[in-house]
Amino acid sequence: MSTTQQPPHAQAAERTAQRARVFPPKAMPALEYTREVAEATTPIYEKVRHVIPEIEWPAHAPYIKAINDLKAERNAIILAHNYMTPEIYHGVADIVGDSLQLAKEAVKSEADVIVQCGVHFMAETSKILNPDKTILMPDMEAGCSLAQSITAEDVRGLREEHPGVPIVTYVNTSAEVKAECDICCTSSNAVQVVESLGAPRVLLVPDQYLAADVALRTDVEILTWEGACVVHQRFTGAEMREYREAVPGVKIIAHPECPTDVTAEADYIGSTAGMITWLKDNHPEKALLVTECSMADNIASEAPGVEFVRPCNLCPYMKMITLPKILDSLVNMRDEVTVDPVIAACARTAVERMINLKS
Ligand code: 13P
Ligand code: SF4
Repeated sequence: MSTTQQPPHAQAAERTAQRARVFPPKAMPALEYTREVAEATTPIYEKVRHVIPEIEWPAHAPYIKAINDLKAERNAIILAHNYMTPEIYHGVADIVGDSLQLAKEAVKSEADVIVQCGVHFMAETSKILNPDKTILMPDMEAGCSLAQSITAEDVRGLREEHPGVPIVTYVNTSAEVKAECDICCTSSNAVQVVESLGAPRVLLVPDQYLAADVALRTDVEILTWEGACVVHQRFTGAEMREYREAVPGVKIIAHPECPTDVTAEADYIGSTAGMITWLKDNHPEKALLVTECSMADNIASEAPGVEFVRPCNLCPYMKMITLPKILDSLVNMRDEVTVDPVIAACARTAVERMINLKS
């Protein structure tokens, strides 16, 4: 019987057995803070000493050394989003970036295994673009409120309601939703993607705030959906005005997932990668990154001289990814992210149309 004719539980069992043959499980490494571990991780500690107290380093360093050793043995790479904690971002990641950068890097990689340190839709995007690679997710529960806000059925409903209107999906969606849409976008390229369609009216789902930001930057009429990010939605315009008054000269740098009254107060609005570039180009004395907390922690060493002003909010999903879970992924080759091949083929069209746009 071919794999496609088997029931899903039998297919999953077969995949697990196959994976165990290709990637036999390894023994869990000893996690001691030895002299060798200290020496191997000292250069990494220099990048995070501003956020991780020295007394805590012996708890992280053995994991970092073990993960980096196992990556080499498995021909694996770690793609990490800018919201990962500093010990992941600086300690074990091979590639860091925003959603667009990670999607592009996933295509270029020659590794057999990608460990996705981010949230589930990012791992799905890597799988869609790399059907033959093994994509591991250190915690399958790491979801996203935007991805959960819309289903494939919702998109089919929108098509019926708005015949002929192209549908752009933010990358923060499931593979099933991407498969129903015409093209994908990220916060780095949403305006370019919308304008590439040459249509007078476009549906941009599911983030109402990203859609509102795009609507201000284009003549294309933007229709949207009522999704929102639980992290960025909590910032308010009043809070921004209070910070401006309390911290004279502060530059407000906001993610486009923030509500409109927040972005209206911002000196710069952009993706997480856009924020980093803006800081490097403009080196303000004080900056308020209106986004997830790890952003400022991670880029402090790349933007010396910038004082980062709080507030920030933690993403409960991104923070599910930890060093012990990454190590477990590489030792036991779990948990593997799979996407139904038919769904993946349709979703790939939407993602590749975005990636192939000339920047
Ligand atoms: P970026 O593509 O800007 O990194 O955003 C991803 C994300 O989930 C922000 O909340
Ligand atoms: Fe989703 Fe918001 Fe977390 Fe990004 S920060 S992964 S949009 S919930």
